[in-house]
Amino acid sequence: MASLRLGVNIDHVATVRNARGASYPDPVRAAEMALAAGADGITAHLREDRRHISDADIDALAAITRRRGRPLNLEMAVTAEMEAIALAHLPHAACLVPERREEVTTEGGLDVAKGHNAITPVVQRLSNAGIRVSCFIDPDLEQVAAAASAGSAVVELHTGAYCDAVRERNPQAAAMLERLQAAAAEAARLGLEVHAGHGIDYETVKPIAAIGEIVELNIGHFLIGEAIFIGLGPAIQRMRALMDEARSVRAA
Ligand code: PXP
Repeated sequence: MASLRLGVNIDHVATVRNARGASYPDPVRAAEMALAAGADGITAHLREDRRHISDADIDALAAITRRRGRPLNLEMAVTAEMEAIALAHLPHAACLVPERREEVTTEGGLDVAKGHNAITPVVQRLSNAGIRVSCFIDPDLEQVAAAASAGSAVVELHTGAYCDAVRERNPQAAAMLERLQAAAAEAARLGLEVHAGHGIDYETVKPIAAIGEIVELNIGHFLIGEAIFIGLGPAIQRMRALMDEARSVRAA
């Protein structure tokens, strides 16, 4: 089974900084710590309203990840402004996400099936520039097929609904996990690389990490929250250990 990478999303370090309009805590320092603690890459979402990560953060994150030879995954809306920023920085990867200003977080996946004509040329231009493009989609077979036909090399499956269901002890959680498993299998069958993310915590990471087709998890909010209590490095190390445990049980 392929090994499983951990991308640490440091957006919410910037959320805390921006709550006071201060210069600290610095998301770039968090990125350095995350890499030192075993993160394979750094993920950051430059939102259109710049509510957490700023343009200057992206400049600095692009520079430190390049210096360290580690991947930066830029989450971005499908807009001309974000496309220009991605092309200026050439991050290792770009994850196309839907964005609505009034949402608290990315509430659902990108509707690639409906937005196919607008999304395909953006996927093409970013890919031609050497950026590995992923579409953040709900675990839905129609969306998986649309992402493949848009030319995306990767899909990131939205795990938010499943993670919420587990936390709420919703009996639908098992069915939601099956949807993730089916979407991952179909994406791999179509030749796509499979990632997953959103809402993952210590409890939900193991069933998700046990899905063998998934090669990367992107995790942010829970880790930054846990860092308040045990520190960022130990929180990442614990998450990493749970991922490895889930993988080794499945391989056994
Ligand atoms: N993956 C994508 C595409 C996201 O938009 C987010 C949230 O920014 C994450 C992963 C990480 O989600 P969370 O912060 O809930 O762990």
